[in-house]
Amino acid sequence: MQRTLSIIKPDAYGAGRIGAIIALLEKGGLRVRAARTLRLTAEQARAFYAVHSERPFFESLVAFMTSGPVMVTVLEGEDAIQRNRQIMGATDPAKAEEGTIRAQYGTNVQNNAVHGSDATDTALGEIAFFFCESDLV
Ligand code: CMP
Repeated sequence: MQRTLSIIKPDAYGAGRIGAIIALLEKGGLRVRAARTLRLTAEQARAFYAVHSERPFFESLVAFMTSGPVMVTVLEGEDAIQRNRQIMGATDPAKAEEGTIRAQYGTNVQNNAVHGSDATDTALGEIAFFFCESDLV
């Protein structure tokens, strides 16, 4: 069993896609072990995406991620990190496979509906960014 962090971003949250997205994740074999909704501060968004701080899109990404509420979940399942990435589809919705979350609900490479951890070490750090161990059921 493995855990990963998922964020339903402000575009998908605002469009009322939480239920549809969680349904796809559950259908794909992932279970929600913790969940919370919040509106990220700029400081939180900058810290969460610090690895991208030198990229040209960084300030725009921070503005987008703070533009409305998000839903953050810890997902658990066999090979959860890879499985979640498959269900999400490619970062750019235009390149995402049909049926994936980003193909269905993403708009462009920035407003792409969801985030998912990309590796075991980042998953641990990203889960700890939002949750403590006692939040996980
Ligand atoms: P995510 O999987 O959350 O990881 C980093 C985010 O940066 C990504 O999804 C997009 O929202 C955003 N992003 C990645 N590449 C670009 C890009 N070329 N232009 C704008 N935003 C991007």
